[in-house]
Amino acid sequence: MTLAKTPPMGWNSWNYGLNELDRADFKRLTEVTVLAQAKAMVDSGMLAAGYQYLVLDDGYQNTRRDFNGHLQGHALRFRAGIPALAEEVRALGLKFGIYSVPGTLTCAQQYDDYVADGLGSLGYETQDAQAFAEWGVEYLKYDWCRAHLNDGLQPREAFKKMSDALKATGRDIVFSISEYGHYKPHEWAPEFTNMWRTTDDLFARWDSLMYTLDLQENLYPYSKPGAWNDPDMLQIGNGSLSSSENRAHFFLWAVLNAPLMAGNDLTKMSDEVRDLLIHPGVIAVDQDWGGEQGRLVHNTGTAQVWTKPMSDGSKASVLLARGESHERFNLGELFPDISSVKDVWSGDTMDSRSIVEVPAHDALLIITK
Ligand code: GLA
Repeated sequence: MTLAKTPPMGWNSWNYGLNELDRADFKRLTEVTVLAQAKAMVDSGMLAAGYQYLVLDDGYQNTRRDFNGHLQGHALRFRAGIPALAEEVRALGLKFGIYSVPGTLTCAQQYDDYVADGLGSLGYETQDAQAFAEWGVEYLKYDWCRAHLNDGLQPREAFKKMSDALKATGRDIVFSISEYGHYKPHEWAPEFTNMWRTTDDLFARWDSLMYTLDLQENLYPYSKPGAWNDPDMLQIGNGSLSSSENRAHFFLWAVLNAPLMAGNDLTKMSDEVRDLLIHPGVIAVDQDWGGEQGRLVHNTGTAQVWTKPMSDGSKASVLLARGESHERFNLGELFPDISSVKDVWSGDTMDSRSIVEVPAHDALLIITK
């Protein structure tokens, strides 16, 4: 069986835990808030739409390991402990995921004054992998966090070490790595990971979305079932992203075959955000493997078309107006050989010779045949 045969889908606590200044606010991360998110995943229809993994990112840990050297949940915020939380999450029908790092310091310890000790998995790889397997973990995000500077580690070797430790547990655990695309992970990570971050963190702003998108342009040859380029987790429903920006973000991540990890507050999301996140047509584009991740096929600088072949021979394309004014797309010129066009969002069919206008910071997702 191929693990992560399609891009993994779920919810991760990191973006949810960021405050207005994009800094982590760990008070938001407790067993109560996380369980509430898990329940909302089920109640909102996200689980039914395919979002299976609930991943606890950095900041869940106690200030030190326990007397057996085990990682443990923060004493005040996760009083019943991580295994108990994992069990409750799994009882809801979700899969539980967790976070660690190959070095001695997690990212939050370095950037967010998170006072803690010995939390990284360096020297504890086997023990941590074993503990995760015992806790019922089915997804591990393993995050670099400057381990070259702090611990003199080499990325490929350090990530491979945890991959081997996970394999040795005999449990199927999706292995998601994050070294921000600094060391060309697409060249080596497909061998032993299921997904690798291609960039630094994505923030809930249009400029950050476009910056991240640009860095995906040449990576399409590297993704395949079981091994996906990861342009970072979704920011839909966060920050000041508008309805159209949220939509464009989702459409683009879908043609990029990106893992879809939501990071908004699911207990408070608007119907509009929920309807976007669970849109079956967009998710179907993301989850379909037609042999290649979407790529940039038309570019004027402000108007772009990103196209992905679908397994049934059709093509999914995002028509993107990335600048500050609307853009016109001439379908007859862009796709001379097609006979049918469907707007995925509305489900409406369109004339294959149409000239469509896309407002600024918006996008249209179409299927052409
Ligand atoms: C890095 C990662 C984020 C998140 C934080 C946790 O910034 O890129 O996704 O995991 O670390 O500290």
